Amino acid sequence: MTLDVSALYDAVPDVAPRATAPSMDILKGSSILAIAGEVKALQAEGRTIHNLTIGDFDPSVFPVPQGLVDGIKAQLDAGATNYPPAVGVQELRDAVTTLYRRELGLDFPADSVIVGSGARPPIFAAFRAIVEPGDTVVFPVPSWNVEHYVALNGGVGVRLVTRPEDGFMPTAEQLAPHLATARLLVINSPQNPSGSVIDEALLGGLCDAILTENARRREAGERPLMLMYDAVYWQLVFEGATHLTPMGLRPEMAPYTIMIDAISKSWAATGLRVGWGVAPPWVVAKMKPLIGHMGAWAAKAEQLATAALLADPSGLGGFMPAFKAQIQDRLSTLAEGIAQMGASGLPVRSLDVQGAIYLSLQVDAIGRTSGGGRTLSTDEDLRAWLLHEAGIAVVPFTAFGYPEGSGWMRMSVGSVSMDAVHATLASLKAALEALR
Ligand SMILES: Cc1ncc(COP(=O)(O)O)c(C=O)c1O
Repeated sequence: MTLDVSALYDAVPDVAPRATAPSMDILKGSSILAIAGEVKALQAEGRTIHNLTIGDFDPSVFPVPQGLVDGIKAQLDAGATNYPPAVGVQELRDAVTTLYRRELGLDFPADSVIVGSGARPPIFAAFRAIVEPGDTVVFPVPSWNVEHYVALNGGVGVRLVTRPEDGFMPTAEQLAPHLATARLLVINSPQNPSGSVIDEALLGGLCDAILTENARRREAGERPLMLMYDAVYWQLVFEGATHLTPMGLRPEMAPYTIMIDAISKSWAATGLRVGWGVAPPWVVAKMKPLIGHMGAWAAKAEQLATAALLADPSGLGGFMPAFKAQIQDRLSTLAEGIAQMGASGLPVRSLDVQGAIYLSLQVDAIGRTSGGGRTLSTDEDLRAWLLHEAGIAVVPFTAFGYPEGSGWMRMSVGSVSMDAVHATLASLKAALEALR
């Protein structure tokens, strides 16, 4: 006989959360996944949809490095199937410090590295280590998921509404009113969703503000303002832009900075789940039991295979240059096509291609009527029009916390072929030309 557990579940209703615990009710379902569901339904009806919504890679378009696959298989054959240490295998912690010394000119002690199953567990654990209930967390919008980590830790989120002319990055002026109260500032560069890379003036300004504030707090015996620098896309920075780090610009930032990184995006390996944080030892010490008790470490074979390639990138073959070139090609082709449409008077523009797998697209069509007769009053109307009439799936910046009515949207190229990029441009042009 089979026990029907679902009937048992239904018998006990949900109860109100305790007021003292961060309420899980705050956590919202991903609106990006809701869009993905709509895309699937249209595809099931036989519609061709150019899907630029997903911050992920289609393995048939962008496979992971073969050296990584071979390395994981070899580690499994060699018996790397038991628990790794909660902070990560020493080989990977050492390889991360080797990578940063070689590529970023930063020499971290190996015990400042803590490994997790992708970037998310280190992000969550660092939040938990730093943010007490009621603490203020400042972050720019648009941003990826920061509000969820704030909610999970009972923090109070302060959103800085950024401007396209700043590449949707926050400025020291915007941070200033919150400097005295903030416990954590979260920045992401290259940024999801905009694809922008923070420049020296903006990052330097933010670091200077943090350093001045922390000098005051040290005198007053107060907890410092910490900076989380989420750089999971840093290996995908294109010509004309440079990846900067807080401590690279201002060495005194080291004790206040937690860097977040992963192979998820840089090696198109989102499903393999290897990431890490690099943080001052007191933060790592607090993160360690969280990662350990959640069992949120990366699989041992994957850690060891990643370590080998980070320490000796010759095993990657020509992966990085070819991978970057293909991503950049898609983004630049989109940006050039959009610029041509703009130059011909169509109401569309994009930001420059700088990094990650994203392009910021702005369609200035609120108040217009689409070729299919839709009234376009909101960002959601713009998204639905592009999906249903042009067969182009994008994510509006409102899904990343940006205010309604801007017309800004994220285009992601991780799952599209070059042919799909050209077809997207042709459909976009036709939809814009049909606007009334
Ligand atoms: C800015 C940013 N940080 C972190 C992550 C999470 O990375 P991971 O898949 O390694 O957990 C993502 C994933 O989309 C991201 O865009």
